Amino acid sequence: MPGFEIFGDEERAEVGEVLDTGVLFRYGFDAARKDRWKAREFEREFASRLGAGHCHLCSSGTSALAIALAACGVGAGDEVIVPPFTFIATVEAVLQCGAVPVFAEVDDTLCLDPTGVAEKITERTRAVIVVHMCGAMAQVDAIATLCNERGVTLIEDTAQAVGASLGGKSLGTFGHMGCFSFDPVKTITCGEGGAVVTDDAGRYELSHQYADHGHDHIGSDRGVEDHPVLGTNYRISELHAAVGLAQLRKLDAIIATQREHKRVLQEAFASSADVSFRRLPDPAGDSATFLSFMMPDEGRARELASELKSAGVGCFYWYDNNWHYIRRWHHLAELKTPGRSPLTLLDPAPDFRDVQVPRSDAVLSRTISMAVQLSWEPRDLEALQRKITGVLGG
Ligand SMILES: Cc1ncc(COP(=O)(O)O)c(C=O)c1O
Repeated sequence: MPGFEIFGDEERAEVGEVLDTGVLFRYGFDAARKDRWKAREFEREFASRLGAGHCHLCSSGTSALAIALAACGVGAGDEVIVPPFTFIATVEAVLQCGAVPVFAEVDDTLCLDPTGVAEKITERTRAVIVVHMCGAMAQVDAIATLCNERGVTLIEDTAQAVGASLGGKSLGTFGHMGCFSFDPVKTITCGEGGAVVTDDAGRYELSHQYADHGHDHIGSDRGVEDHPVLGTNYRISELHAAVGLAQLRKLDAIIATQREHKRVLQEAFASSADVSFRRLPDPAGDSATFLSFMMPDEGRARELASELKSAGVGCFYWYDNNWHYIRRWHHLAELKTPGRSPLTLLDPAPDFRDVQVPRSDAVLSRTISMAVQLSWEPRDLEALQRKITGVLGG
C-alpha cells in the first residue's frame, strides 16, 4: 500500500509552504500562516473526493476509530461487533473507549459476513465496525441495511481501502462514520495521519471537538473557546497534512497503476486450477492494493506460501500473522493492558480466551495475499509472472 513509493516535488512543495510560514499547528496563528491551511484543504478535498458531507483529519487511523466511536456515543460496556481478521487497531479502539469487542464471522470477501453480523446482534450491541480489508469492499450495503433495521450504528474502518468503492459509492460513506489511515504503508500517506468522514453535522462537530481537548473551534482566540465535551489530543500537524495533500492529488493515478499491476499478477495465478480468488462484491471498485486468493485446503496454502517465498515472491499467510488475525492475539486473550482495563469491572467480565470463529478459520487458513507495488517496472512484472507460473507448474 505504497504512497511512499512516489514521494516527489509535489510533497516537497507542500511541506515547503508550511515551513515558509513557521506555522506547524493547524489552528490559529491566522496572520503568520499567510492563508495556508493544509489540514483544512485536505479535509475539503477528501470529503469532495469521497462524496462525504464532512471530514476531520487527525493523527492516525487508530485515533480516527477512537474519534468515530466517541462521536457515535459508544462507551463503557457497549458491545461493538468487529471482524477477527483486521489489524489489531480496530479492536484496540473499542477497548480504549471501555466497550466490548464481539467477534463475528468473515467470509470469502475477507470481510464481515452480513449473516455473521446478524448472529451477533443483541440488545447490548451499540455499533458494528466493518473493516474493508486488503484494498477492497465488504458487503457494506447489506450490512448497512441490517444495522438500520436493528437500530445499530455502523462505522467503516476503511484504513486499507482508501479510494475503493461499491456500486460507484466510496467506501467509508455507507455507515454513520468512515475512518481512514494515512500511516507510512497506506495507499496515500501523511507520514502518520488519519481521517473521519460523515454526513452528520452533529457527529462532525463532536469529532473535531473530541480530537482537540473539547475545543469548540469558534472564534479566533483558543484561550477563550468553550469546551462542550472532554476530549483528548488526536491533532495532525500541518507538516503531515501537507504531505497528505500532495498524496491525495495522486490517489487516482496510484489506483490506476495498482489495478494494472494486479491484473498482471492475477493472470499468472489464474493458470492454476487450485487457485480461487477472493470474492469482490464489486470488482470495478477494488483499489487493488492486494491480490488475495484461496487454495483448496490449509496444507496446500501453507505449501504454496512457502514455495512462493523461496522463489522470491513476497506474500502474506494471514492465518499465522501476529497482527491481523485473532488466532495470534494472545495479548487480547489475556486482556493484557498496562493498567486495569475498564472491562474487568463488567459483570460478567468478557472472556476472550476461547473466541470461536470456525467459518473465518476455514477461509483464512486457505488464504494468501500479495501486496501490489507501484514501483514495479514491466520487467519486474514479467519476472514475477515467470516465478509464479514456475512455482504453480512445479
Ligand atoms: C484495518 C486497519 N485499521 C486501523 C489501522 C490503524 O491505522 P494507523 O496505523 O494509522 O493507526 C490500520 C493500520 O494498519 C489498519 O490496517
